[in-house]
Amino acid sequence: MNKVTEFFAPGKIIFGPGGLSQVGVEAKRLGSKVLVVLGRSAMRKSGALDRLTHLLTENNLEYIIYENILSDPTVETVDTGASLARKGSCNLIIALGGGSVLDTGKAISAMVVNEGSVADYQEIEGKGRKFQHKPIPFIAIPTTSGTGSEATRNAVITNTKLGLKKSIRDLCLIPEVALVDPELTLSLPPHITAICGCDALTQCIESYLGKKSQEITNALALHAIGLIGKSLVKAVKEGKNLEARKDMAMAALLSGLCLSNSGLGAAHALSHPLGVYYKIPHGLSCAVLLPYIMEYNQPVVTKKLAKIAECLGENISSLSETEAAQRAVEKIKEILTAVGIKENLSEWKIKEEDFPQLIKGAKGGSLNNNLRDISDKDLTELLYKMTGLC
Ligand SMILES: [Fe+2]
Repeated sequence: MNKVTEFFAPGKIIFGPGGLSQVGVEAKRLGSKVLVVLGRSAMRKSGALDRLTHLLTENNLEYIIYENILSDPTVETVDTGASLARKGSCNLIIALGGGSVLDTGKAISAMVVNEGSVADYQEIEGKGRKFQHKPIPFIAIPTTSGTGSEATRNAVITNTKLGLKKSIRDLCLIPEVALVDPELTLSLPPHITAICGCDALTQCIESYLGKKSQEITNALALHAIGLIGKSLVKAVKEGKNLEARKDMAMAALLSGLCLSNSGLGAAHALSHPLGVYYKIPHGLSCAVLLPYIMEYNQPVVTKKLAKIAECLGENISSLSETEAAQRAVEKIKEILTAVGIKENLSEWKIKEEDFPQLIKGAKGGSLNNNLRDISDKDLTELLYKMTGLC
């Protein structure tokens, strides 16, 4: 199909083991007073925070620390951080952490200079203000390999008042610098490594299969799928294997570039309400949903699924296209089993009477990007399968 495409990426991507050492120089280039956004205690314990603050001080930068950011950051968390940054006259945000911490830092960088609450800017029907002012510079330093938030133009924020998890989204939100140092992921526990890696895998597959797929992101997605096939199980089982961690960090970064430019699909659409109503970790619900969504889409993406099987190292030379597509789904299931993900979410006790609410929460951009149309009836059937209720 002839279509005109666009591709956006962070102003600068720094990648490689030991890359954290460049943060001082980058920060000095972009600001003078930093709000450092941090999760709970992992980066304090690992010594990464000390290294970061030492590098800032060495480069004559002042900083304030905003920490204890939890998973699924709320409107209040972002608004409080923005007010802290304004009071402290910060002109640069650095977030060091997982996807939730990066999303918080990204949202704060915009809210420091834009009026109102971040809730006013969420993609909620009838709302969704546009940012009037360019965010202050933002350096994203991921410590997990999953969301790819270091490369994306959106931040997912939970609006507890409305019971919604919705993005703020704008090109101006793409981080000025994505600093990806795989050494920071070496101490990540196996289960977190697994669900984050599955999130990246789902992002690559959904952007590759989606309506907005394009040549640049297709190339990135297929390369990342290959890296994940090669190294996810290894990263989960041998946490200190730097080579495997490097592959996963690259795959997550690429998955961010893919989703930011080509969107997602039905697995991500359903994963958001499951996070809001049942607090199911994002990567876990994506992982469980992925094979079901691939099977659902198979009639319209057979050729692409066959290519995925090939990228995952399967020999498809003697298989028909349909058989090769099915092999891709089977291979994904094998990977999920190997990293300890169950085939459904039965232990989360999702109730049938909540299905209408979950379906309502799934509506939006990601669902619209799914190549094969999905009716409410189809979503209900998918929910029966993935909840283990049938
Ligand atoms: Fe995701």
